[in-house]
Amino acid sequence: MVLTSIINLSYLLGALAFVVGLRRLSSPDTARRGNLLAALGMSIAIIASMIYPFSNADNNYIWIGGGLIAGTLIGLVAARRVQMTDMPQMVSIFNGLGGACAVVLAMIELVQFYGGVAKSTQELVVIVLALLIGAVAFTGSILAYLKLDGKVSDSQVTLPSHSLINNLLLIITLGLSIYLCVTGGSLFIALLLMAIALIYGFSFVAPIGGADMPVVISLLNSFTGLSAAAAGLIYNNNIMLIGGILVGASGTILTVLMCQAMNRSLFNVLIGGFGGNAATSKAQLGEQVAREVVPNDAAIQLFYSQSVMIVPGYGLAVAQAQKITKELDDLLETNGVSVQYAIHPVAGRMPGHMNVLLAEADVPYPKLLDLDDANDALPNTDVVIVVGANDVVNPAALDDPGSPVYGMPVLNVWEAKNVIVLKRSMNPGYAGIENQLFFHPRTKMLFGDAKASIQKLVSEVKGLR
Ligand code: TAP
Repeated sequence: MVLTSIINLSYLLGALAFVVGLRRLSSPDTARRGNLLAALGMSIAIIASMIYPFSNADNNYIWIGGGLIAGTLIGLVAARRVQMTDMPQMVSIFNGLGGACAVVLAMIELVQFYGGVAKSTQELVVIVLALLIGAVAFTGSILAYLKLDGKVSDSQVTLPSHSLINNLLLIITLGLSIYLCVTGGSLFIALLLMAIALIYGFSFVAPIGGADMPVVISLLNSFTGLSAAAAGLIYNNNIMLIGGILVGASGTILTVLMCQAMNRSLFNVLIGGFGGNAATSKAQLGEQVAREVVPNDAAIQLFYSQSVMIVPGYGLAVAQAQKITKELDDLLETNGVSVQYAIHPVAGRMPGHMNVLLAEADVPYPKLLDLDDANDALPNTDVVIVVGANDVVNPAALDDPGSPVYGMPVLNVWEAKNVIVLKRSMNPGYAGIENQLFFHPRTKMLFGDAKASIQKLVSEVKGLR
């Protein structure tokens, strides 16, 4: 009785820590502590769940302890080694493993059921839900990881009439699930359902292309949360249920927000087809020629301006140019130049990517403008420095109805008085499409690795003081 109260109280504390931690993740200032708080909540939840089997003669502490040690070690090594730019891959794998856990739990329950342990129809429904959602999240996330890591290309896994195959697999999966819940089915049917759901997860992600992968990962994340919630229902474990629901809800909200930021419907993302192949990598397009600038001239322009807006993109993350960018910012500020940052919600490869990088370099949060505020400020900005951003500053989003990014809100950097674009070549960004900004009369290109280019700007600006 006392033990049960302690466990329930711990679950309540754990759930509180999850909610408050999640809330704190919404601002870079509080995110680190929010993460630690959520981790503390998880530790409380694990310890409380470990107390639970005390009342049970056949507890499995050796297995649980072994799993905990192995999981902690793998998690520690992975978290320490992973580069910021590879974070979506890691999220994907962790997601997939969560789904796999739900599949294993559901199959254990089903094997017990066919071995004679009675289950009500409601219990069967929950078990089948955990199996289905977990299986789709598992294989879907593994394929998402393989694609993001460049180990598999879209064409290698997409078949002709793929959406027809997906629809068929979905109908079979749902049909078998209903059959199993209504009649109880058999172990063979359960195994068949598991196999087809695993295939469906893989096939569901197969046609989805490059730039849409973060949206799919977030969706799969919410699936994993829901499968964990179903597992919480199976074991009547409140903290698992709450944790699962929180992950499911936040993943769903994130998916919706990302779709909105790209002005695409979820359906449009799921049927695939984002990205083009019309891009050239030449500095000349028809009559248009991109103009280059040397670091010395760019530095003079920055030094004598009143306001500068920095637009970070995926290239800033690749070059790890956040700290040197902050150095340039400090240098300009001490010379009376006002420096701000324009943050596009999908700049980079994951939500909040730019915020995290800039926070790492101690850029004060009030200097970061969101899309709307930045667009309001841009016409009064003397110089915009685009650091490794491409799709998020593409004017085709506003004026080319044929472009895959048409309708996506972008940063209207061409409205500023001058634009300096830092990138290594004329190559396209993630969407694989041409960017007219590079040929705009107010734009000049500073070619090279972003970190090296900004380093040069810093040296040149220092020379001007
Ligand atoms: P991108 O459009 O991908 O452009 C990045 C640019 O950085 C490239 O053109 C590349 O040009 C340049 N670059 C790469 N390495 C560099 C380096 N070392 N130094 C300098 N430049 C470098 O990035 P973006 O503007 O941030 O847009 C993000 C894209 O991801 C969008 O298409 C968006 O829809 C998609 N997406 C993002 C998210 C989230 S949540 N962030 C979610 C879904 C989709 P070079 O190769 O010439 O250097």
